[in-house]
Amino acid sequence: MPTVCLNGCDLPVEAAQGETLLSCIRRNGFKVESTCDGQGVCGKCRVIVHGELSPPDEVELEHLSGQPGNIRLACRAKVVGDLTVTLGETWTQIHSAPESKCRTVALDSLLKRVTLPDEVESQRPYAETLPFKISDPRVPAKIAARGENSNQAFGIVFGNELLDIRFDRTPVLGAAVDIGTTSLSLNLFDLESGEFLGSSSALNPQTAYGGDVITRINYCREKAEGVSILRSVLIGQLELMLDEVLGKDRNRDQVHLMSAAGNTTMLHIMAGVNPLSLARAPFRPVFLKPVILEADRCGIPISPLGRLILLPGASAYVGADIVGGLTAIDYRTCSGCTLFIDIGTNGEIVLIEAPDRLLGTSCAMGPALEGMNISCGCRAVPGAVNSVTLDAGMLPRYTTIGDLPPIGICGSGLVDLVAALVTSGVIASSGAFNPDCGRGLTERLRGDRYYLTDNVFLNQRDIRQVQLAKSAAISGILTLLSEAGRSVAELEHIIVAGSFGYHLNPENLKRIGLLPEEYPGRITFVGNSSLSGASLALINQGILREMEHLASIIQVQELGSHPAFSKNFLSQLNFPNS
Ligand code: FES
Repeated sequence: MPTVCLNGCDLPVEAAQGETLLSCIRRNGFKVESTCDGQGVCGKCRVIVHGELSPPDEVELEHLSGQPGNIRLACRAKVVGDLTVTLGETWTQIHSAPESKCRTVALDSLLKRVTLPDEVESQRPYAETLPFKISDPRVPAKIAARGENSNQAFGIVFGNELLDIRFDRTPVLGAAVDIGTTSLSLNLFDLESGEFLGSSSALNPQTAYGGDVITRINYCREKAEGVSILRSVLIGQLELMLDEVLGKDRNRDQVHLMSAAGNTTMLHIMAGVNPLSLARAPFRPVFLKPVILEADRCGIPISPLGRLILLPGASAYVGADIVGGLTAIDYRTCSGCTLFIDIGTNGEIVLIEAPDRLLGTSCAMGPALEGMNISCGCRAVPGAVNSVTLDAGMLPRYTTIGDLPPIGICGSGLVDLVAALVTSGVIASSGAFNPDCGRGLTERLRGDRYYLTDNVFLNQRDIRQVQLAKSAAISGILTLLSEAGRSVAELEHIIVAGSFGYHLNPENLKRIGLLPEEYPGRITFVGNSSLSGASLALINQGILREMEHLASIIQVQELGSHPAFSKNFLSQLNFPNS
């Protein structure tokens, strides 16, 4: 049997002849980015290989043209003989958007520290003298330990339940997380002072199993242990992020509460619930209301006596992320007809007509605008091209995150580049490159590629991905407006959320046709409002009730079977004419 040495491991592993490298890598607990879950579409599963492999097929040749011969796609290359494989550095931290400036709320967390009364001369069991529910058998054991400890005892109380007993004044901490399909973000708070202690963000490691919710659900369908694999890689990453924010002076045992926002699929997986029902009609979630789980039972990396709150969603595809976002911006204060759009792999859109009249929907935008499924696409990591303009001589000017040499292009850079090329005529309205676009422009067109730099280019397929994403978004917007009997002219404000949203140039969103080109009004970027919503729910217990009410009043419009959506989608594929 051939042996494979993965990432310089001392112990080579065995692989069956004909097994794909991706299967071998996963089977042995390693990771490689594989956004399309091995379908040969995303081109992200590149590895460096020495040894005997099957020859590259057409799909590989297309993705790897111009690359050295020892770079292969792990999902296409099959083991023939002994190999050494080097995996790419894909698990770097992403550069997330600053959290949105959200409303402020009073500090009134569900989690509190209380001073427990001293022992009194009584034969009544001490636990029964306390005004709290005690359901965990570990708590009475801690009560017994009171006798051994002369320090003042403090209770960590969640609602009316005594979760834990402490004999010191170590801080009472809570973590808020946003579980995005592509990105994870975490905020840490001191729940006694309300002080924000730090944040962390990272790639959602589930992207190795598929770039969007449908491929993840398919993974859960095809693998008996799919949900637990996706859940454990997610929890493993949250553990790293929490440790990073806690630093050396704090520890996980001090964190007794975590609140999580995310789309409905992500929250099902977080709860260990198979999301299969979300992918087949009638698209029925297993739960939507807030769910409270015991930390040790669900394996989250906080005190084993702590609690995890999964925030409420409105439907299978209008999730807790947008409910959290609307709460964070305080949708009740929006004046006039307002459109709230959370741009991400799953685009979610809500039309706010009045505080009690909200119409919501979602559309599959795909991961292109997050820099994935694009030849030279990358997430917002240091070195990613994040803005592009054309100067007077039609030469591209770009910036990169951290002012580093360009390694790829992230979502905001991609929107800028496509908008500039559409405006200058390099890309025709149909999306095709125009070889007669004029001096200064054609020089960078080689074959079906436009070269922004020597190593960062855009090809015809990439442009198609942008067209599909923007068409899904604008079609969702137009369908929602027509369902409400309204026109673009009646919109008074567009609010764009999502970690991607913060970096965008609003005019370019209109230029590529993602937002209505004729819309003249205000466009506001609010960053990661989903994380803000999760943070608010951690700090003030009333927010959870507010979210539950909001989730119950959003009227959800399913677009999958909506005839106007399909019609809009086809008619919106082209870019607006210059
Ligand atoms: S091309 Fe290999 S996982 Fe997408």
